[in-house]
Parts: sequence; C-alpha cells; structure tokens
Amino acid sequence: MKRYRGLWIFLGILGVLVPAGRGAAAEDAAVNQPKAKEFRIERSMPKEAVACLDCHRRESPGIFTDWAYSRHASANITCLDCHQAEEVDPDVSQGHYKQYERSEVPYSTKEYRVPVAGVVTPKDCSRCHPDEAKQYERSKHANTVEIIWKIDPWLNDGMNSVGERISGCYHCHGTVLKMKDGALDPETWPNVGVGRINLDGSKGSCTSCHTRHRFSVMEARKPEACGQCHLGPDHPQIEIYMESKHGDIYTAFGDQYNWNAAPGTWTPGVDFRGPTCASCHMSGAGTVLTSHDVTERLSWETQAPLTVRPSDFAAFPAKTNWEVEREKMTAICMQCHGKTWVDDHYSKLDLVVQEYNDMYFTPAKKVLDQLYEKGLLDKTRFFDERLEVEYYELWHHEGRRARMGTAMMAPDYAWWHGFYECKKRYNNYMEEARRLLETGRKAFRAEDFPNATGPTTKPAEVFGK
Ligand code: HEC
Ligand code: HEC
Ligand code: HEC
Ligand code: HEC
Ligand code: HEC
Ligand code: HEC
Ligand code: HEC
Ligand code: HEC
Repeated sequence: MKRYRGLWIFLGILGVLVPAGRGAAAEDAAVNQPKAKEFRIERSMPKEAVACLDCHRRESPGIFTDWAYSRHASANITCLDCHQAEEVDPDVSQGHYKQYERSEVPYSTKEYRVPVAGVVTPKDCSRCHPDEAKQYERSKHANTVEIIWKIDPWLNDGMNSVGERISGCYHCHGTVLKMKDGALDPETWPNVGVGRINLDGSKGSCTSCHTRHRFSVMEARKPEACGQCHLGPDHPQIEIYMESKHGDIYTAFGDQYNWNAAPGTWTPGVDFRGPTCASCHMSGAGTVLTSHDVTERLSWETQAPLTVRPSDFAAFPAKTNWEVEREKMTAICMQCHGKTWVDDHYSKLDLVVQEYNDMYFTPAKKVLDQLYEKGLLDKTRFFDERLEVEYYELWHHEGRRARMGTAMMAPDYAWWHGFYECKKRYNNYMEEARRLLETGRKAFRAEDFPNATGPTTKPAEVFGK
C-alpha cells in the first residue's frame, strides 16, 4: 500500500502553525458529538481526508475522538495516511465504496472516492517510523508464528482445533491474514497478535501495545499493555511483576509517574521511581537506547525446555551476544541500583537456571526418551498420554515460573508456584515412569482425545510451499 509519500512532512509543518485538536475535542465532548479541528481541516488537508474525518466524526465518534486526542492528529496525520490503499491491493474494502454513494452525505461525487483498507501494518507505519519497524521486525515478537510452527506440538501434531487456536494461541501470537470472498477471512480477523502475518508480507501489528487510534507511548509504558498476553500459568510475567517490589512501587506511586514524557526521554528517577516492563525491556536509559526488539537485553531463554543462551535457541537463534545484552540490562538497573546489588541478583538467576536444567529438566527428559525408545510411550501424538502432559507442565508451567520468578524478583513464583510444584510433579512423573519401565507395560493412550482436528501443515506464507 503506497500512499501520499512526503505529504505528511508538509502537513506536519502546517501542524505546527495551527493549534492541536485537544481543546476543541474536549469542549465538544460535552454535547457528545466531537467536532474538533473543523476549521483547520479545510485549509491543510486534502479534501478526501476531510471527507473521512467529517463522515466518521458522525458515524464512529469512538474512532474519530480517539484520533483527535492522538499525537497524530496534532501532527496532521489523518485517516488517509494510514488507511488509503491502492485499487489493486487485495484487502481493499469493497463494501466501503458504498459510503461514497450515499445520497444524504455531501461526498457522493467521484473526487472523494478513495480505496481504503481496514488493516494497517508495520510496513505502513514504517514510512514514518522506520527505526521502530526495523527493530520490531527482528524481534521474537514479530517472528513468533515461525517459532511456534517450528516447535509446538499442539500445532504440529494437530492436538487442538481451529476454533481453539483462533480464540487462544493466535489471539496473542497472531494469525496469518487471509482474504475470503473479497473480504478478510473471519478465521484470521480481527487480530492484533504480536506476530500477525500481513497481506503485504510484513510481520506483526503495532497495535498490540499502542491501541488505535491513540497510539500512545503512555499506554505502552504501563505493565498492563504487556500483561494482556504475558500472564497465566505458563508465562505469568504480570503476576510476577505485581508481586515484586518494583510492582509494589508502581501500585503505590504509579499515579505520580510522568507517563507522557517525550519518546526516548522517559528517565528513571525523574519520571518514575520503580521500573515497569517497558523500562527494563524496551525504554532507553543512560547509554542504552530505546528498542522495539524485546529480544535485546536477555541473557537466557527461560521459556525454553532446557534453558539456553538466546544465540543457541535453535528455532530462532538471536544475533546477539548474551554478555553484551546482560551489560545493557545491568546498565538499566544501575540507574537505580549499585553494581553489587545487580551482579548478585544475576548470580542468583544463573544458579537457579543451572539447578533447574540439571536437577529437574535433564533427568526428566532422559526418562521420557527411554520410554519412547522402549515403545512404552507412543511418539505419533503428544498430550494423549499422561506422562507427556506431566513432562510438558514440568518445564512449560512450573519450570518457567521458577526461572522467571527468580529473573524478576518474585519469590512466591520462584518457590511456591515454581520449584515446590516442580518437586511434586517430578516425583509423580518418576513414579509412573519407573512403573512402566519395570513392568514393561505401555502407557494408557487417550484414543478419543477431543477436538484434535487442527491442520498440521506449516503456513506457506512463512515457510514457503
Ligand atoms: C460518507 C461516509 C464515509 C466516508 C466519507 C468515509 N467513511 Fe469510512 N466508513 C464509513 C462507515 C459508515 C463505515 C462502517 C461500515 C463499514 O465498515 O463498511 C466505514 C468503515 C471504514 C473502515 C473499516 C473498513 C473495514 O473493512 O474494516 C475504514 C478503515 C474506513 N472506513 C476508513 C475511511 C477512510 C480512510 C476514509 C477517507 C478516505 C473514509 N473511511 C471515508 C463511512 C465513511
Ligand atoms: C496512524 C495510523 C492510523 C490513522 C491515522 C488512522 N487509523 Fe484507523 N486504524 C489503524 C490501525 C493500526 C487499525 C487496526 C487495524 C489493524 O490492526 O491492522 C485501524 C483500524 C481502523 C478501523 C477498523 C476498526 C474496527 O474496530 O472496526 C476503522 C473503521 C478505522 N481505523 C478508521 C479510521 C478513521 C476514520 C481514521 C481517521 C479519523 C483513522 N482510522 C485513522 C491505523 C490508523
Ligand atoms: C504519515 C506519517 C505517519 C504514519 C503513517 C504513522 N505515524 Fe506515528 N507519528 C507520526 C508523527 C509525525 C508523530 C509525532 C507526533 C508528535 O511528536 O507530536 C508520530 C507519533 C507516534 C507515536 C508516539 C505517540 C506519543 O504518545 O508520543 C506512536 C506510538 C506512533 N506514532 C505510532 C504509530 C503507529 C503504530 C503507526 C502505524 C499504525 C504510525 N504511527 C503511523 C507520523 C506517522
Ligand atoms: C494469553 C496469550 C497467549 C496464548 C493464548 C498462547 N500463548 Fe504462546 N506464548 C505467549 C507468550 C506471552 C509467550 C512468551 C513466553 C516467554 O517468553 O516467557 C508464549 C510462548 C510460546 C511458545 C514458546 C516460544 C519460544 O520462543 O520458545 C510457544 C511454542 C507457544 N507460545 C505456542 C502457543 C500455542 C500453540 C498456543 C495455543 C495452544 C499458545 N501459545 C497460546 C502468549 C500466549
Ligand atoms: C511490545 C509492545 C510494543 C509494540 C508491539 C510496539 N511498540 Fe512502539 N513503543 C512501545 C513502548 C514501551 C514505547 C515507549 C518507549 C519509551 O519509553 O520511550 C514505544 C514507543 C514508540 C514510539 C515513540 C518513539 C520511540 O521510539 O520511543 C513510536 C513512534 C512507536 N513506538 C512506534 C511503533 C511502531 C511503528 C510499532 C510497530 C512496528 C510499535 N511501536 C510496536 C511498545 C511497543
Ligand atoms: C499481543 C500479545 C503480546 C503483548 C501485548 C506483548 N507480548 Fe511479549 N511476547 C508475546 C509472545 C507471543 C511472545 C513469544 C514469542 C516467541 O518466543 O515466539 C512474547 C515474548 C516476549 C519476550 C521474550 C523475547 C525473547 O526473545 O525471548 C519479552 C522480553 C517480551 N515478550 C516482552 C514484552 C513487553 C515488555 C511487552 C509490553 C511492552 C510485551 N511483551 C507485550 C506476546 C505479547
Ligand atoms: C526490573 C526489570 C524488569 C521488569 C520490571 C520486568 N522484567 Fe522481564 N526480565 C527482566 C530480567 C532481568 C529478565 C531475565 C533476562 C535474562 O535473560 O538475562 C527478564 C525476563 C523476561 C522474560 C523471559 C524472556 C526469556 O526469553 O527468557 C519475559 C517474557 C519478560 N521478562 C517479560 C516481562 C514483562 C511482560 C514484564 C512486565 C509485566 C517484565 N518482564 C518486567 C527484567 C525485568
Ligand atoms: C527506576 C528505578 C529502578 C530500576 C530501573 C530497577 N530497580 Fe530494582 N528496585 C528499585 C527500588 C526503588 C527498589 C526498592 C528497594 C527497597 O526495598 O527499598 C527495588 C528493589 C529491587 C530488588 C529487591 C527486591 C526485594 O523484594 O527485596 C531487587 C533484587 C532489584 N530491585 C533488582 C533490580 C534489577 C536486577 C534491575 C534491572 C534488571 C532493577 N532492579 C531495576 C528501583 C529500580
């Protein structure tokens, strides 16, 4: 989708000359009919853009008002800049042309008619935000559809259904967008998952953290923006964070933080006194630059079955050196802490990672391999035998909680939801495994495993034909 190249620069300059739409929109809110910026629309925008604003102001005040309060509106970036498509783009809304045929609105002549698409991708944003889009593109967020199809047994063994995938997995990870009968396929839309594969080939959706149409940095800096996906039994980062001292401080003082500091200037101590997810993983501080690549600053893959360095993660090896990345994270911590405090925190994390790998994961994996070798467990499907589920939860649930609880300072997750549960699971798992090995009896197989109907072909859009 190629749009008005260069226009935004021109409009941006005009935007400096005319006041922002905030005041006007706020006054109008009283009559529940936002009318912001009409005076300026006429002078500084193409007539097609005026049409979008004027009609949508009445038809969808929720969208219009959101936009009117955004930085984009202040900079005169309009609906047209993001939604205008080429006639030939596959995702042009055919239904929308009818809006220009309505007799009761003044836009029924040809000069206003513009092809629009509902989908706005990182490629569209990259016209004006190239750095953010480039960083995002190399992150695990953007590439997660590839990663999950490389390693996940739910998908590769078809152990769940399309309905279960689109309401669950893909809601967070992202769908592969498709057209069906001239419109977006409801099996793939709506969706703002972090790794959505778009029709223009770009990956991800910037609205995962900056919801439209405010596109606010304030929202993305708050832990709740991450917590919508980073929660639950297998990756409870928001719960871990809220349990940590950093989360306590956010709860106590968050309403005093300066959430709206200009991009790249959100300063520890000055603007906030306890870090959020964004402060540690994304926002710049000291000599460390802001990054939209959340894979930066990490020294371990604590979500993986066997904890490895990010560069050794086979499904998606990071092009990073863990020592350099740890230095970056350390520099963030040291905006508020001394070096000993931070180094000693990391030595605790390294110890826990080692103990988890050696004492829990490695022996459990060894026994699982033996059971497969001897034919006591069946390899054709996963999750249909009890030991497979036990093994999975050992690393995927409590094993992660133990490691991540330690990484982010939450002792209840490290121990009670973590290692304590690991011990319990491990003992039950070993008891059953030994019984099978000693008796030579095959494990019970859940033949009628429900709803194991999902397709097992990897998406061609990512893996090729
Ligand atoms: C005359 C009124 C009118 C004008 C002018 C208008 N729209 Fe719309 N638009 C609507 C209405 C009503 C809907 C909701 C019905 C629908 O989704 O088709 C809509 C829907 C949309 C959608 C969602 C489409 C989808 O398939 O999800 C987008 C995006 C959109 N408009 C953008 C624009 C842009 C950009 C412009 C200016 C180039 C514009 N509109 C001009 C009335 C209008
Ligand atoms: C900065 C880019 C940007 C601007 C400016 C913008 N939009 Fe959007 N719009 C988006 C994104 C992103 C989405 C979410 C779609 C997606 O995830 O691909 C969206 C979604 C929509 C939708 C579908 C939402 C739904 O819930 O059905 C409509 C309709 C729409 N925009 C209309 C407008 C109108 C009208 C304007 C001008 C007042 C506007 N947009 C300005 C980026 C933009
Ligand atoms: C036509 C150019 C243009 C496009 C396309 C565009 N933006 Fe922007 N965006 C800007 C400009 C200019 C600013 C700075 C406004 C300011 O500083 O007042 C901005 C600011 C922002 C901000 C910072 C807001 C804040 O609270 O400080 C975010 C976040 C953002 N854009 C996200 C997006 C996303 C996501 C998309 C795609 C859906 C997008 N932009 C598309 C021009 C654009
Ligand atoms: C609530 C949102 C959400 C849902 C639903 C969800 N995931 Fe995830 N998934 C995540 C997050 C967040 C992570 C990152 C975990 C981490 O790094 O700590 C993740 C991690 C993963 C990983 C590990 C990737 C890696 O780099 O090792 C796989 C594989 C995966 N998910 C597959 C799935 C599948 C398949 C489903 C559905 C059966 C699913 N997920 C459902 C949010 C979700
Ligand atoms: C995982 C959450 C997340 C996603 C997804 C995301 N952002 Fe951001 N974005 C943030 C955070 C957090 C900040 C605030 C950084 C700071 O404190 O200055 C931010 C800031 C920005 C800014 C302000 C300038 C800057 O670099 O600080 C722009 C522009 C922006 N994002 C654009 C985008 C675009 C374009 C995309 C899609 C390619 C995107 N964002 C996707 C979290 C996200
Ligand atoms: C829409 C869902 C979603 C949102 C919102 C989201 N994430 Fe994620 N995040 C994921 C998924 C899915 C993964 C797993 C990607 C993979 O490994 O395949 C992930 C992985 C990560 C990772 C691990 C990266 C790696 O290389 O191992 C970090 C760190 C992360 N997210 C931080 C954040 C932060 C910080 C925010 C908020 C500013 C955020 N995420 C918002 C879904 C989300
Ligand atoms: C005090 C800083 C800090 C805060 C706040 C924080 N994290 Fe972390 N996070 C870390 C550290 C340190 C690690 C371990 C990094 C390493 O691998 O060396 C980590 C690990 C992770 C991982 C695991 C990545 C992997 O692949 O192993 C994810 C996902 C994550 N954080 C997401 C979040 C989310 C979401 C939030 C907010 C709810 C958050 N973090 C809050 C510092 C923080
Ligand atoms: C914006 C400032 C800030 C940043 C950045 C920050 N912290 Fe903290 N942290 C604090 C404050 C304030 C406390 C509370 C200290 C106290 O107990 O008085 C704290 C507490 C802690 C604690 C004690 C937890 C407890 O429950 O006793 C640890 C450990 C810690 N931080 C480690 C880190 C690490 C590691 C990083 C970087 C990954 C980091 N912090 C980043 C401000 C910060």
